[in-house]
Amino acid sequence: MRVLLYTGKGGVGKTSVSAATALKCAELGYRTLVMSTDPAHSLADSFALPIKSEPTPLTENLWGLEIDPFREIEENWATVKDYLSTLFASQGVDDIVAEELSILPGMDELFSLLKIRQFYEKEAYDVIVVDCAPTGATLRLLHFPDMIGWYMRRLFHVERKVVGTIRRFTDEIFSVPLPGDEVYDTVERLYKRVSDMKAVLADPKITSIRLVLNPEKMVIEETRRAYTYLNLFGFVCDAVIANKVLPEEVTDEYFAEWKASQQRYLEEVEASFGSLPIFKVRLYEREVVGIDALRQMANDIYGDRDPTERFADSKPMRIVKRGKDYWLELHLPFTEKGEIQLMRKGDELIIRVGTIKRHLVLPHILAKQEPKGAKLENGILQVRFGMP
Ligand SMILES: Nc1ncnc2c1ncn2[C@@H]1O[C@H](COP(=O)(O)OP(=O)(O)OP(=O)(O)O)[C@@H](O)[C@H]1O
Ligand SMILES: [Mg+2]
Repeated sequence: MRVLLYTGKGGVGKTSVSAATALKCAELGYRTLVMSTDPAHSLADSFALPIKSEPTPLTENLWGLEIDPFREIEENWATVKDYLSTLFASQGVDDIVAEELSILPGMDELFSLLKIRQFYEKEAYDVIVVDCAPTGATLRLLHFPDMIGWYMRRLFHVERKVVGTIRRFTDEIFSVPLPGDEVYDTVERLYKRVSDMKAVLADPKITSIRLVLNPEKMVIEETRRAYTYLNLFGFVCDAVIANKVLPEEVTDEYFAEWKASQQRYLEEVEASFGSLPIFKVRLYEREVVGIDALRQMANDIYGDRDPTERFADSKPMRIVKRGKDYWLELHLPFTEKGEIQLMRKGDELIIRVGTIKRHLVLPHILAKQEPKGAKLENGILQVRFGMP
């Protein structure tokens, strides 16, 4: 079974590409579920078909699902939400604000993602295609297992056993209400489910993340950042979809400059995600709506290839700490030997080895450090970082 996640900056074409991919999978004979975590119900707009918050049949082998994040929050978080509201209210926070505060930012998206695992476990589908929220939101979620761990330790800082024994006294002594067993149970259950979900998402045999982008400056920057963090957290990206590329046959003078800049940015895309295959999709004459348009898009992206393939399988980047130094290890297969040049530009690192150029965003831990040297061994470039 495969889980294919499509993410990228707002408006680049995530929903269209997810819908097109799902359609292609279904037409190849895979039982396919396509789901969206976007409350704007955009999958239904792409297919031009109604899609409910339960798997809705769309065509042969294809089901669609628009998750209702508020329902998910009610089902998964209600007890904690009630407790937190009471807790905030007891501290003098206005009722409505207290209720709002009891839902953490990104939580709607988190519960939506938990659905992936639920359907994964049911084994009713061969492929699950997920139309994810824009990169920023997706990235925040990756912290969630850690964050819930934090919650369990800090917010519910008193050990559970202890709570039981002191509860009798507290109501009179403290003005802070203590969490009841149901609250602990909910948080613990959630912690377990999020950790399990992370295991599914981080297993490259199951999950591939695909970055959808347009050949434009801001979009590429954000996607590069996403790529670094996805790698860092152990998620495997296996393809880039460069969408809305002006086709050759557009010769109108009006678009000449757009075409030239797209060309430049496509080269930058190659330099940024070099080891991943880059699938280009042209800007169509009109919006991508309906089965026929989606089928056309899928064929333009994948041609004869099967979207469930793993298009790349190595973890291209990792950071290890040896002694006081951090080492950034980059997988650069097929790289010829040559002089290694490193150039730092803000939080970005530009690497040249022979004729190969790589451009990547450094994660926070490395951004404060200086590259001190580099070596290339067995197709892996190792860059040593230390304090300036
Ligand atoms: N290659 C293309 N050619 C023409 N129109 C396109 C193409 N790809 C997407 N579109 C159109 O661009 C608009 C935005 O696409 P889409 O909704 O798929 O993006 P998104 O990344 O999901 O956006 P959001 O971040 O808002 O969810 C839609 O109207 C869609 O039909
Ligand atoms: Mg969308």
